Amino acid sequence: MSHEAPQSQPKFSRRSFLRDASALGMGFLAPAILPGRKVTAQSSDQPLRARLSIDPDHRLGTIDPNIYGNFIEHLGRCIYGGIYDEGSPLADPDGLRNDVLEATRALRVTQLRWPGGNFSSGYHWRDGIGPKDQRPTRYDLAWFQREPNTYGTDEFVATCRKLGTEPYICVNMGTGTLDEAAQWVEYCNHAGGTYISDLRKKYGHAETYNVKYWGLGNEVWGNWQIGHKNADDYAKAAVEFAKVMKWEDPTIKLVACGNGDPSWDRPVLDALVGHVEYISAHHYTNADDLKDYYEILGSVAQLETTIRNSALTAEAVSVRLRKPTPVWTALDEWNIIYNWSDGGKRDDVHKFEIPYNLRDALWVAAALNCIQRHCRTVRLANLAQLVNVIAPIYTTPTGMLLRTIYYPLALYANHSGPLGVEVAVESPRFTTQHFADRPYLDASATYDEAQRRITLAVVNLRKEGDIVGAIELAGVRARPGGRAYQITGPSPDTQNSFENPHAVITQEVKFDGAGDHFEIRFPRHSITFLEFGIEAR
Ligand code: AHR
Repeated sequence: MSHEAPQSQPKFSRRSFLRDASALGMGFLAPAILPGRKVTAQSSDQPLRARLSIDPDHRLGTIDPNIYGNFIEHLGRCIYGGIYDEGSPLADPDGLRNDVLEATRALRVTQLRWPGGNFSSGYHWRDGIGPKDQRPTRYDLAWFQREPNTYGTDEFVATCRKLGTEPYICVNMGTGTLDEAAQWVEYCNHAGGTYISDLRKKYGHAETYNVKYWGLGNEVWGNWQIGHKNADDYAKAAVEFAKVMKWEDPTIKLVACGNGDPSWDRPVLDALVGHVEYISAHHYTNADDLKDYYEILGSVAQLETTIRNSALTAEAVSVRLRKPTPVWTALDEWNIIYNWSDGGKRDDVHKFEIPYNLRDALWVAAALNCIQRHCRTVRLANLAQLVNVIAPIYTTPTGMLLRTIYYPLALYANHSGPLGVEVAVESPRFTTQHFADRPYLDASATYDEAQRRITLAVVNLRKEGDIVGAIELAGVRARPGGRAYQITGPSPDTQNSFENPHAVITQEVKFDGAGDHFEIRFPRHSITFLEFGIEAR
């Protein structure tokens, strides 16, 4: 069966689009962002055609910088042997890997979630403070690994400070108590003069940590969770946690544990709406299950459904219970994964070290498009995870590799503007079994009003050939001198490796689009990111 949906080709009013590639607005330039990748020839078939229209006045909302968040969990080699590697020649005096810090800074991570994930449901934070040689080693039942506790709250906050990112701590609502959660806030955010806050000073940290974001447990709805509960039991417990944590520090922002399903989110928010600023939702596309290229890429539809459902419930409950600012969605774990069975590997620290390929980078870019399109309701998001475990950054004791998914994350976080704007996409489509028809071109756009600058991100999911896009601007013209960046590779299976670390990277490509309409050729299986100034027509 063909994956191609019956095409009604977009009808174009202004131009004919059957053009020689050389006459189009874009061609390849020598790599300008990272060196080393060979430029591949474009496919020679007749490209399909599409149209993308942007009106900078059609605003979707302000993009909260917190959507460019990330996550580190005590799982596999994310922390130990990942971001934290005491004694390594690659680490700084605090044991943090310099190469990982540098690569993370380039990702512009706005907030960083820790310590889990599932790990948080069995974690006692007092184990991870004080002299390292006196910290207990425990056995973690979330991931069946020894936990030496040499990386704890002080090390995490130090990591965030070095990265210039906000810490986001998820408290233990599995085996943890109210006291532990309240005292964790006290340890981090009280100036001193109490036993717990003076401990922080005693251990060398005079200044308060001022941790703003706190999660009320992780995936408590799942039976794999230590201390799994039903919605009513969770809601009852979480209200008490929220109360005491905010009594410790009324300025903190709380994230209720949600999942995007109203049968959980509604009772939880009915109880918690007055106590929390966010409700969480997680999305993982499991490529083990979907297998097929187009099914996997089409699954971003499911992410979109989760976001919509989370926001619908949050807004409905917020309105009904008269909360002036609605509860926002915190998509605090999202990614594409495979080898899910790694999670049960007892005492093996090499868990979920996925060698991501170009297809996965396309999925990540399409997910970022989706998150940006939902910027009105998604106000915080965390790629899961940062290092080694389902991660853009991979380490060995002697080196580091940037996986394919690193590049879209860096591109969007560094170049997107502060407002989301609508892109009307008329594109040929592909069929899927699980997610109906989907457009080959997946797009999002942003606008920077002060700088009069638009960005347009377009993922061409089509693996059989290029697509020529007609870009139309309503009421404005693109000024010459814009820039274009592209991520692609010889095939969707292409991976980065130590032998060929730049097989899939971001390259700056030639772009001379200008005026109120121009054409761009989007190579097969590629991400294209345009950035241009605008002026009134
Ligand atoms: O990110 C890996 C795990 O996936 C997290 O610990 C958990 O919250 C989710 O199920």
